[in-house]
Amino acid sequence: MRILGIESSCDECSAAVVEDGRRILSNIVLSQIDFHKPFYGVVPEIASRKHVEWISPVVQDALATAGVGVGNIDAVAVTYRPGLIGSLLVGLSYAKGLAWALRKPLVGVDHILAHLYAPQLEREIVYPFIGVLVSGGHTIIARVERHDSMQVLGTTIDDACGEAFDKVAKHYNIGFPGGVAIDKLARTGDSRAFRFPHPVLNKGEAYYDVSYSGLKTAVIHQVDQFWNGKAEKSLANIAASFQRTAIDILVDRALAAATDTGVRRIVAGGGVAANSYLRQRMAAETGLEVIFPSLSLCTDNAAMVAGLGYHRLQDGFTSDFSLNAEARVPVFKRAYP
Ligand code: KG4
Ligand code: ZN
Repeated sequence: MRILGIESSCDECSAAVVEDGRRILSNIVLSQIDFHKPFYGVVPEIASRKHVEWISPVVQDALATAGVGVGNIDAVAVTYRPGLIGSLLVGLSYAKGLAWALRKPLVGVDHILAHLYAPQLEREIVYPFIGVLVSGGHTIIARVERHDSMQVLGTTIDDACGEAFDKVAKHYNIGFPGGVAIDKLARTGDSRAFRFPHPVLNKGEAYYDVSYSGLKTAVIHQVDQFWNGKAEKSLANIAASFQRTAIDILVDRALAAATDTGVRRIVAGGGVAANSYLRQRMAAETGLEVIFPSLSLCTDNAAMVAGLGYHRLQDGFTSDFSLNAEARVPVFKRAYP
């Protein structure tokens, strides 16, 4: 079964054809980075307009690369939440139009669950696992039960991890997207030059929660206060020290979740899962199976949408044309979605 996936929740315009939920026949990702770079962040209005311009050629490219005629796809899967509302609407409207014209099923896909499905495109991963979803919009630690359900153990109580990378990079003019720029600069820095605060939340309800706004404020406004007094106060040293702390906050809680639940498999997803220090830290953990998708499947892409869409369809789930885009999905400490 061949599913056409469409992803337009933020600044990547992407379409993919995936066979039987696993075999990627094509995965076209057109990034809008150059258009948002001058603003050091994604400008929603620009993002929607670029999606309108690009969606049709990107879908055509995905079909041509896969060598599949549009009439030979079995369903259209599309991200309908969460994300930038205007951007989501472009992909969703296009998917609805295409599904209607082809008389094929439409399958609405949740972006958070799609990120956690992404590594399944490269190898079969047995459920349950501890899912660590770290992106520009979300930081979630969960016990993932199936492709369509998870028990949320912890979330960020303020900023997302990727957002902290983006804001620190913006403040110090390091580059955009912030995570990529800091990851690169940090390689030349001393990660012990600054001892930034690592918040520890109380046991109980909040135990697996993380927080990034204090770290962000410390790195932006109180850098001198956390300097070790010896190393150079260079940008590379700030980047390396910030990155070490940001990743330590996450790894600490992900490992606690694995230990406490007895689930010894950790699967990461989302843009920050591309971080080289995070990958290196997790790989060094013994007694745990740690799985990261390839870099191209960490960041937003339509293959993960098509892959998850296939399983939703197999479960007998389809969406009707009244499906609407949703900017936010509340993530509470309970079953998701
Ligand atoms: O999953 P994604 O592509 O979009 C969202 O759904 O948010 O994630 C984008 C986020 C941005 O905050 C970006 O700075 C971060 O992922 N990111 C990274 C790296 N590559 C991307 N953060 C840290 N290290 C990286 N190598
Ligand atoms: Zn994403």
